[in-house]
Amino acid sequence: MAAPSVSPRVTLNDGNSIPQVGLGVWQTPAEETERAVTAALRTGYRHIDTAAAYRNEPETGRGLANSGVPREDVFLVTKLWNSDQGYDSTLAAFDASLDRLGVDYLDLYLIHWPVPANNAYVDTFKAFAHLRDQGRIRSIGVSNFAPEHLTVLIDATGIVPAVNQIELHPLLPQHELREVHARLGIATEAWSPLGQGSLLTDPVITGIAERHGKTPAQVLIRWHIHLGNIVIPKSVNPERIASNFDVFDFDLDASDMSAIASLETDTRLGPDPRTFNFTG
Ligand code: A2P
Repeated sequence: MAAPSVSPRVTLNDGNSIPQVGLGVWQTPAEETERAVTAALRTGYRHIDTAAAYRNEPETGRGLANSGVPREDVFLVTKLWNSDQGYDSTLAAFDASLDRLGVDYLDLYLIHWPVPANNAYVDTFKAFAHLRDQGRIRSIGVSNFAPEHLTVLIDATGIVPAVNQIELHPLLPQHELREVHARLGIATEAWSPLGQGSLLTDPVITGIAERHGKTPAQVLIRWHIHLGNIVIPKSVNPERIASNFDVFDFDLDASDMSAIASLETDTRLGPDPRTFNFTG
């Protein structure tokens, strides 16, 4: 059997490093999550991304425990849900996530959304910093933060988040945020990296895939790697999970990259973080 693939790693601003390609389990039904996580870890993935809101933390933890891969070899990420923002509520929500995952530390904890109307993300991040100082989280970051949220957070806490996980795919390449991240030293992480599957039949993507003898999903994942993004494609299917990780033996050239750039429409598939204040 061929040796399993190994993902390159991205070094974070706190000195830790994260495997660039991970498995995302957003919209993975709880009953399919354990199998997907185990399949990913057996394939060679060493980075799993979940969230309290996905309601599959227990199954994610079981997949990790049953995979045979040691906990310390896996970069485990979860996210604090919007209704738990605030200093004390964050500490309690963190404990609950660890309990559900069945682990005693996290590699990365993210504020899921800024929820600007709540005005609580600064206190939330102060609680994150406390948990990091206690050694219970290795790296702390955010998700769906716009430039102005990053500025407020950094000015108030003096801490630059290690990661901002944002909607990012060829329809929405996020030029401005990626530039802000590069200037501040924040790693860019892409959610819905395949455009929730919508880009897999796009003729530009399928044409490039044919030329490289690769699948459309592999081309899209390679596009993210080329840009330096951390990328967490979601799949429930073990064969697709494996093939999404078979992306380290080819690269896109300048003409592929400019063809993919032509797909930009600036359309979001998910909510706009500046107005998304849902705490249900
Ligand atoms: P499935 O879970 O049935 O494999 P995104 O990560 O952008 O949210 O995209 C996830 C969507 O893309 C899911 O519908 C997933 O379906 C599908 N998908 C993931 N990998 C592949 C693949 N290699 N080929 C086809 N569809 C895929």
